[in-house]
Amino acid sequence: MAGWAALTHCFEPRMLAIPAYVPRNLSSPIQPIWETSMKTAAENPRFRLLMIVFAVSTMALALVSTPLSAQAGQAEREGRALTIGLIGAGTMGGAMGLLFAEAGHQVIFSSRNPDELMELVQSAAPRASAGYADAAAFLGDVIVLAVPPVAIPQIGEDFAHLMQGKVVIDISNPRVDREGPITNEWLEMGTGLAMAQYLPGARLVKAFNTLGARMFQNPMRNGVRIGVPIAGDDEEARNIVADLVRDAGLEPVIVGPLARAKEFDRGSPIWVTGASAQQIRETLSLP
Ligand SMILES: NC(=O)c1ccc[n+]([C@@H]2O[C@H](COP(=O)([O-])OP(=O)(O)OC[C@H]3O[C@@H](n4cnc5c(N)ncnc54)[C@H](OP(=O)(O)O)[C@@H]3O)[C@@H](O)[C@H]2O)c1
Repeated sequence: MAGWAALTHCFEPRMLAIPAYVPRNLSSPIQPIWETSMKTAAENPRFRLLMIVFAVSTMALALVSTPLSAQAGQAEREGRALTIGLIGAGTMGGAMGLLFAEAGHQVIFSSRNPDELMELVQSAAPRASAGYADAAAFLGDVIVLAVPPVAIPQIGEDFAHLMQGKVVIDISNPRVDREGPITNEWLEMGTGLAMAQYLPGARLVKAFNTLGARMFQNPMRNGVRIGVPIAGDDEEARNIVADLVRDAGLEPVIVGPLARAKEFDRGSPIWVTGASAQQIRETLSLP
């Protein structure tokens, strides 16, 4: 790891697990290190040494910490593997990212301190990297907002331009004691529509919010798979999220447009109950 640390320090990359320089300010184009300096750098003995260290570190990392590398995941086998950017890599973001990587997706964990995510990246190797939120928003085909709901307005302000037309998954459950009085306004509106205000241009889908994080470890209740209600205005986006729900070992239930997300917000009869898909359909009067 010393060699790896030296290498990342040398190039000051924003993405810590891929050899590309992703600048903090993405208004300027991404500049791979090899475009700017490869010719002269290749002649530099220190650069050559670093390249050797990089190759050896990568191989060593692959050998000692690639629990996922031995087999192709379900999404890979079905030819629908995506790059999934996780904004927030705590309880939910971490657990979801590991499951998505296991299914064969490439995941980008992000944090305000991405250097603290290396253990997570190693657990999901070789299908994971880490960076800042802008890298996850910019590089992800699908973005998961796995941050406290109170952080979403600012994330929208900073990064909505990087998520235009992308599938963005809102898993938030606002709480008065954490988010403050705006929580009541959001719940009144429905959190799906409330968060959509902050993410113009994204194909927002509400899903995964009815789960407790532990349900990812055991997705069965009484021998039946736990269901996950999904709401969004874009049909293709809803279907992509339905596949991701299956990849996580759970059963998707398409509820309808984003406005219906209100029916499975915090406090609703199917919120964190481990209800099956059939129970969700009955409760929400779905066919
Ligand atoms: N926990 C559950 O069982 C559960 C279940 C369903 C839904 N949810 C929802 O999932 C979301 C995440 O919950 P969690 O339990 O995973 O939370 P968590 O463990 O506290 O993780 C939150 C993550 O968000 C990041 N973060 C915090 N404040 C931020 C800010 N202002 N800007 C950018 N990033 C920030 C943190 O990263 P850094 O501090 O490293 O930057 C951290 O990785 C919430 O909306 C919650 O309502 C949680």
